[in-house]
Amino acid sequence: MIVLSIVQQKGGVGKTTLAINIAAELRARGKKVVVVDADPQASAVAWAGPQKLNFDVRPELVGSQTVAQWLRNVLKQQADVAIVDTPAGIGTVFRAALDVADLIIVPCGPSSLDLNAARQTLSQISSALRSDARSLAKVITVPTRVDLQQPEGQQIAEELNSLGEAVGPPLSHDVYYVRAFAQGVAVVDAAPASPAAVEVRALTDFLLSRLRLPV
Ligand SMILES: Nc1ncnc2c1ncn2[C@@H]1O[C@H](COP(=O)(O)OP(=O)(O)OP(=O)(O)O)[C@@H](O)[C@H]1O
Ligand SMILES: [Mg+2]
Repeated sequence: MIVLSIVQQKGGVGKTTLAINIAAELRARGKKVVVVDADPQASAVAWAGPQKLNFDVRPELVGSQTVAQWLRNVLKQQADVAIVDTPAGIGTVFRAALDVADLIIVPCGPSSLDLNAARQTLSQISSALRSDARSLAKVITVPTRVDLQQPEGQQIAEELNSLGEAVGPPLSHDVYYVRAFAQGVAVVDAAPASPAAVEVRALTDFLLSRLRLPV
């Protein structure tokens, strides 16, 4: 099983939106997928509430068990891919999500505040990975909620690139993502021809290529 962990020091950058939409696209490509919701806010679990997603979203809070037990519970999922959605912050859940990951995804919004948070998050990740000699996890950043019509939106990939990790294709600021959450669906299923679905597919291609899996 491959584990993708989505982490960010800053809240509201689109972690859960990315987790659910990527999961739906991987499912559409025939993978057995589970989203592990490690956020006490339980947004991913709420997304699955209307029971329209065709993959499981399971709550697995680190706080209610030891970190070792949490890691075991994530790794025992019967799936090809587990996507771990975490709360904002760089505490215990963040560290556990890094420990279990094959690929660490750091979404970053378009503002300078977002960029600062991404920089700090990457620095925390790099010291955590350095202190774990066994870790072979890869790290990528993904611009999220960007307006590609505006200069800030066009510059974000370049600025993220300067932070030293691979940068995935962006997810635009698009009401389709908001609607998908409200309706308990994923953009690739509910609106497969939408620009949002096109970019989710492009990001999925990129993730699979980083993992050296066939796209
Ligand atoms: N690409 C996007 N375009 C427009 N709105 C978006 C996009 N991505 C996320 N949003 C909206 O932004 C808000 C925050 O997104 P989301 O919950 O995915 O972020 P998060 O990083 O998981 O937040 P938290 O830190 O609270 O867990 C939600 O209302 C969501 O619908
Ligand atoms: Mg979230």
